[in-house]
Parts: sequence; C-alpha cells; structure tokens
Amino acid sequence: MEFDDRIIAGHEKESDTWQYSLRPRLLSEYIGQKKIKDNLSVFIKAAAERKEALDHVLLFGPPGLGKTTLANIIANELNVNIRVTSGPAIERQGDLAAILTNLGDNDVLFIDEIHRLSKTVEEILYSAMEDYALDIIIGKGPSARSMRLDLPKFTLIGATTRLGAISAPLRDRFGVQCRLEFYRPEDLAFIITRAAEILKVQINPDGALEIARRSRGTPRVANRLLKRVRDFAQVQKANLIDVQVAKDALAKLEVDSNGLDKNDYRILNTLVRTFSGGPVGVETLAAAVSEEVETIEDVIEPYLMQLGLLQRTPRGRVATRTTYEYLGVPWNPDGKTGTADKQEQPLFGDKS
Ligand code: ADE
Repeated sequence: MEFDDRIIAGHEKESDTWQYSLRPRLLSEYIGQKKIKDNLSVFIKAAAERKEALDHVLLFGPPGLGKTTLANIIANELNVNIRVTSGPAIERQGDLAAILTNLGDNDVLFIDEIHRLSKTVEEILYSAMEDYALDIIIGKGPSARSMRLDLPKFTLIGATTRLGAISAPLRDRFGVQCRLEFYRPEDLAFIITRAAEILKVQINPDGALEIARRSRGTPRVANRLLKRVRDFAQVQKANLIDVQVAKDALAKLEVDSNGLDKNDYRILNTLVRTFSGGPVGVETLAAAVSEEVETIEDVIEPYLMQLGLLQRTPRGRVATRTTYEYLGVPWNPDGKTGTADKQEQPLFGDKS
C-alpha cells in the first residue's frame, strides 16, 4: 500500500510546500488548539517579561496538525531566531554541538521527529537542556579528555508523532508538554476558507465544511483536498466551490464522507473479515495489509480510533459495532460474523 501517496496522508509531501505561505505567524492567527494556545501565550509572556529563555517545549500528536507551525509562531512571538532541524539529521554529537554553539541567547532550536535522535546525541542533549552546557569527549583512548562547553540559554522545541518512543529522561526535561488534537470541522472550514482566498478560488461556507469533514481533522489534508477540488471545479467551469462541487470532486478522489479512503477500508475489512473483528496484534494486521507498523500506528489508527472504528486493547486491535455498521457487515457479538460472511463486499463503499 502506498500510504505516502495518499491524498489524505498526514505526512508532509514535497508538493505541500505551497502551504508554507498559508502558515499563520502569530498565536492570534492560529486556529484551533485553544487550550495549548491559551497556555503558551501565558508562558511566552512570562518568559519575555523576565527576559529569560522559555522553558523547553514538547509538541506531540499525529502528523499534519501544525507542530512546526506552532514552533515558528513561538519563536516569532518571543522575537527570537529559530533554528530548524530534525532527529535523523543530527547524526553525531559534533553536529548537535555545532548547532547549539551557534545559537543566540534565548533562541529556539526546533527538532522535528525528536524520537529519532540517536542515543549518543540524546545523551549530550540532557546537560544542554538542563545546564546549558555540553560535556564532550575530545580525542580517543588514553589521551581522551572531557571538556565542558558553555552554551547560550536557549529553548528546545521537540516535536514527535510518538510520545511513547521518547525516553523518560528526555521527556522529563521538557517543562511544557502539549498534545495537539484533531481539529473540529468548523475550525478546518475556517482554515480552508482562508487558504481559498490565497489560492484565489471562490468557496462558500457549505463547500468549505464539506471538505473540512473529509479532512481527517488535519489542516495539511484540508489544504491538499482544497487544491484538488479546485482542479475539478476549474475543469468543470464551476466558478464557486459549493457542497455539490466538493462532494463530486471528493467522490472522484475516493475520499468518503468521513475522510476514509480505500486503504482505511482495507485495514477495517481485514480486521473484520480476516480476523473476525480481532483482537489481532498490530504486527499481524500490518503484515496482512503489507504496511509498516509505524504508519499504521502513527498515521492511520489515531483517526480511526477518533471515529470509534478501531480500538487498541492490551490484546490487540479490535473492531467495534460501529466498524461493522460502517462496513455493512452484520454485527453478532457472540459468534462474530466477520469470517463467516465470506461474501466480498466492495472494498470502497462511499456512504455519502
Ligand atoms: N494553517 C494550517 N494550520 C493552521 C492553523 N492551525 N491555523 C491557521 N492556519 C493554519
């Protein structure tokens, strides 16, 4: 399965770079995530008043919800510089040392995918975060010596899709920890309407809400869907995206009324039909649909769980009554019907 090619994939693609121009620059322009915004604005104000670096911030949640955007906003609101990098890009301790020693006082260092830092790099990050100092070993063998390097005071903003993959010592060093939630359709509709202005395409509130409902609670997906719907509208010579134009286009894109595509259906159908609704281990499920466990856990499952179409239990993944209803498979909790009902249902059943 090619999840990265999906129009509704949460991960960033190269073709998403146009969305950078849509990114808000201030907390007041950032839609949704109210609790996080309210708290951050207090912490930012307090740090600025004390003329100190903001405490280290950990942002976590599914891809595409605006972690990088938020990091840029924090730096902008603090009126400091931001240096952006990612866990896999920092290969050696020296790479991190070079970045940290080049920061200015109170600057922000943003490390995306921080769960992918190597152990050796992570180890020197501890003293950098806690004491604004780096303990590095110079040389090898008997002549090796340890050196302590003072660093400017800085704020580390770490972002991750997998909180569980971060070691406890690293996690504990973040004074501020924020879980980003999926966006409400009304908030996404607002984001879509703003993006439509920038793309110079007419959209009405119902059209925006229709795209919003199918965007998996994710701004990155919403903007991507808007762009594709705009193509359909243009070719059909429709000069306004209304509900009907949006519905027709999204049906052609095979995105259903809740934002599920063929691949979601494939996972749900496998869970219900091949594994009788579970419980089934995620590795087994991943093997059955030829997909990486990590993609299933980070990208696909969070949204299916949010819809109540899948549950994670200690014994494995389980389908719910809602899953059966969604797929049109008879629900029979005692003698689960998934495998008994061998008749192949269409892989993709749009219920809109
Ligand atoms: N574009 C992408 N995410 C956004 C958000 N949360 N607020 C405003 N514009 C956005």
